Amino acid sequence: MNPNKALWEKGDFTAVAAFMRDSGEALARSLGVSAGQRVLDVGCGDGTTALPLARLGADVLGVDIARNLVVAGNKRAVEAGLAQLKFQEGDACDLKGVADGSFDLTLSIFGAMFAPRPLDVARQMVRVTKKGGRVVMGNWIPNDPTSFVSQLLKICSAFTPPPPEGFISPMLWGVEAQILERFAQAAVPAERVKMVKDTFLFSSGEMGPAGFIDVFRRFYGPTMNAFDAAEKNGKSNELLGLLVDLAVSQNKAGNASTSIPATFMRVTVEV
Ligand SMILES: C[S@@+](CC[C@H](N)C(=O)[O-])C[C@H]1O[C@@H](n2cnc3c(N)ncnc32)[C@H](O)[C@@H]1O
Repeated sequence: MNPNKALWEKGDFTAVAAFMRDSGEALARSLGVSAGQRVLDVGCGDGTTALPLARLGADVLGVDIARNLVVAGNKRAVEAGLAQLKFQEGDACDLKGVADGSFDLTLSIFGAMFAPRPLDVARQMVRVTKKGGRVVMGNWIPNDPTSFVSQLLKICSAFTPPPPEGFISPMLWGVEAQILERFAQAAVPAERVKMVKDTFLFSSGEMGPAGFIDVFRRFYGPTMNAFDAAEKNGKSNELLGLLVDLAVSQNKAGNASTSIPATFMRVTVEV
């Protein structure tokens, strides 16, 4: 089994995505997509950005490595009556069956950054985008105390066995020099790559930061793995404490609800 696929199918990202719907919709609106444009959403999950883009009139294909999320996305598309929105299984490292130059916008929000071969990801996203179109990525930023998920993953990694040799940290997609190098290898010069820091908001009016961390513990593959390893070493309470402290310290709402702003790198590539 592909370990990248196994990691994301282990959990159920829909539970985390419930905290991302409002910000996902705002992000989709900010892309200025017009009706009839073709959009590919890579690592789309169950459609946090794909659904609102289809509601804006775009013709959207969501690709994700996790079968359960593809099923969930197609269910949401049918329930929303969005005939121009489809989800299918696929790998950002090798977008097999997706024709060259077929999308006006290729998007990946906290998705393709988790694929194991970043140079292939850059090449593939550029390949499937039309000349004159755009690739847009949202990536968490390493060592930024305000980039909530990168901080959460840093804590988790201290409790998880070291990754196999050759593993490339997904967080490098948040480093400007790496981003430029990866797109340069995909034949895109630096002047066509724009990078700005932006903010994504995790929010819920019904659950506070401790509940939010419990959702990561039960449904988010990387955090589930960290707890599995911590439990074996009698360290799960320590891990839980650190994660709850992180969420509480970043939360801008009271303890009964969640409003956690998270800085990310927004990358726009003109193809
Ligand atoms: C943090 S979630 C983000 C999901 C979605 N973009 C959202 O904003 O709700 C990461 C997603 O990337 C997907 N993913 C991870 N590796 C992938 C790969 N190699 N190819 C395609 N999707 C991948 C996961 O299955 C998961 O749905």
